[in-house]
Amino acid sequence: MRIKDTVATRLKELGVEVRRDVLLAEQTSLGIGGITDELLLRRYDSIAEVMHLLANERIPHRFLGGGTNVLIADGDLPWVVLHLPTSAPGMGVEGATAWADAAADLGGMVTFFAKHDLGGLEGLIGVPGSVGGALRMNAGAYGTQIGPHVREVELYRAETGKIETLRSPDIRFDYRHTSFAPDDVMLRVRLELPAKPYREVLAGIRVCNEKRRASQPLNQKSAGCIFKNPPGGSAGRMIDELGLKGHRVGDAMVSDRHANFFVNTGRATCSDMLRLIGEVRERVRVAFGVELENEVILWQN
Ligand code: EPU
Repeated sequence: MRIKDTVATRLKELGVEVRRDVLLAEQTSLGIGGITDELLLRRYDSIAEVMHLLANERIPHRFLGGGTNVLIADGDLPWVVLHLPTSAPGMGVEGATAWADAAADLGGMVTFFAKHDLGGLEGLIGVPGSVGGALRMNAGAYGTQIGPHVREVELYRAETGKIETLRSPDIRFDYRHTSFAPDDVMLRVRLELPAKPYREVLAGIRVCNEKRRASQPLNQKSAGCIFKNPPGGSAGRMIDELGLKGHRVGDAMVSDRHANFFVNTGRATCSDMLRLIGEVRERVRVAFGVELENEVILWQN
């Protein structure tokens, strides 16, 4: 979608950098996604005005974090993409609380706090994406989830049209799901983390890195796990048992390393990936009577 020049000018006055005709395939870990205008929100204090302007002009929009857990449609997209640029380092430690900007890199945050002798997040090392995306999805791995460590989230709330601070009792963190509204924009988080010597945190980080390297296709384009694990089960194990590793539609393929990772081996399109997801879901439904739910977020027209 191309926004009108008049609107682009007003956005620039609000500190927004407007990038024309951006290929989103270049901003997602799957290497899939069509073309649209991208708005870089360089000033947090004007976010409410930017959102009001987009609403008044009836410009549909989506908010892109690290681009590591989305499957975006091909071709010309009917919405613009909003993005918070990273400001280094965008994190710090003040007394007993650790804070990070939503645009910061999740893994970078884990190691930054480790250097301040704060642990608890070791399992999240290697989960790709931004802090904001991790909050929205309640990212987790190896028994760690970000949710239980959250004390406060500063966010733009679509419901009130204002920047607000939510405290942890007012946020629900479930398995890869939270109570944030789709239009809420994560801005900053405060975390409470257990004190732990750097060397100990580092040892935990190494263990997780090794497990991940041994079981996941880290050097291929993917969005991590495609399906959520069903209660008490493992999507990866079921797909593997059906002999579907290596199964492909075009250049979209079930990883031969971890069956719940679907990889883009070259020029996979969104429709290839959607067909592959549909075929695998159907095979699992027929064989196991389990309806797998997507873990990856679909951005379709
Ligand atoms: N397994 C197979 N074949 C496979 C893959 C897995 O038999 O191809 C078996 C494993 O041997 C193991 C079981 O399935 O016994 C579970 O596998 P694994 O430990 O790799 O974990 P997972 O359940 O597949 C979950 C998360 C991952 C996270 C890992 C590590 C989901 C859907 N998956 O995977 O998260 O990295 O645990 O904690 O929650 C993600 O969210 O994108 C993601 C990758």
